[in-house]
Amino acid sequence: MSLSSSHLLGLEGVPRSDIQLILDTAVSFKEILSRDIPKVPTLRGKTVVNLFYEPSTRTRISFELAEKRLSADTVNFSSSTSSAKKGETLRDTIRNIEAMNIDMVVVRHSAAGVPLFLTKCVDAAIINAGDGMHEHPTQALLDLLSLREKFGKLEGLKVAIIGDITHGRVATSNIFGLKSMGAEVMVCGPKTLIPRDVDQFGVQVTYNVDEAIEWADALNVLRIQLERQDSGLFPSIREYHAEFGITLERLNRAKKEITIMHPGPINRGVELDSNVADSDFSIILQQVTNGVAVRMAVLLLLSGVEASGLN
Ligand code: CP
Repeated sequence: MSLSSSHLLGLEGVPRSDIQLILDTAVSFKEILSRDIPKVPTLRGKTVVNLFYEPSTRTRISFELAEKRLSADTVNFSSSTSSAKKGETLRDTIRNIEAMNIDMVVVRHSAAGVPLFLTKCVDAAIINAGDGMHEHPTQALLDLLSLREKFGKLEGLKVAIIGDITHGRVATSNIFGLKSMGAEVMVCGPKTLIPRDVDQFGVQVTYNVDEAIEWADALNVLRIQLERQDSGLFPSIREYHAEFGITLERLNRAKKEITIMHPGPINRGVELDSNVADSDFSIILQQVTNGVAVRMAVLLLLSGVEASGLN
């Protein structure tokens, strides 16, 4: 079994069968990860480069762990300690790394389109680990796996994405992934942070967080990028919390079970209160756990190695 594309640049246009295959493969890996020795020889002999031009905790560490669990050789590139600091271009950087014989590249960059650009520079399989305001596909895939585990299905599930939809790559990838899997999606946030044409993606829109809570089975609460407060897109952090912050009081008012997700890092007390993030409503740490299995699945399915080596 293989994916319909040789790279993972985003979830836009990715067929349901591909997403299904990634999630099902991740479930097999979860079983392996629960063993005393959580490691398989599947990608022995393959070399993966983690090319991070932007800070990351969860994505970088879980890709590296996923590669090690699959017995791949891994190399970590950090722009701050590389010759990029001396002005080396991205194309030269990746072509030089490829000259050392690599198979796959995991890339995070602040500029949208860098993963696509890399596919034109080298033959290696490219995996997008977050590119600017474009997409963050493996985050959405681990969100989908976490929802499927919690609810047993994605079809018909009501998921509200709360926060900065305009600048959020997690929101975009989640919308594509959830819609592809038959879930219903609502977006909620300040008018200034929701694209005018978002309904073309088949999502509902509300500017009232209580309405979103009332409607949804699960809330995916996005990080408010604090640097945006200087751009005039919302008046203040305090006002954002008052209007859109997810608090225990708000959830209790809804008088129903609701699942809380967040991709991290959390601004505690801004978009999400600590007593919600750390409550039984929250599956935030399960999301992080699932990140390793999902990334193992993506690495395997793009490696060209037969999945029969799983056990
Ligand atoms: N969710 C996410 O991408 O977190 P990091 O920036 O820590 O990788």
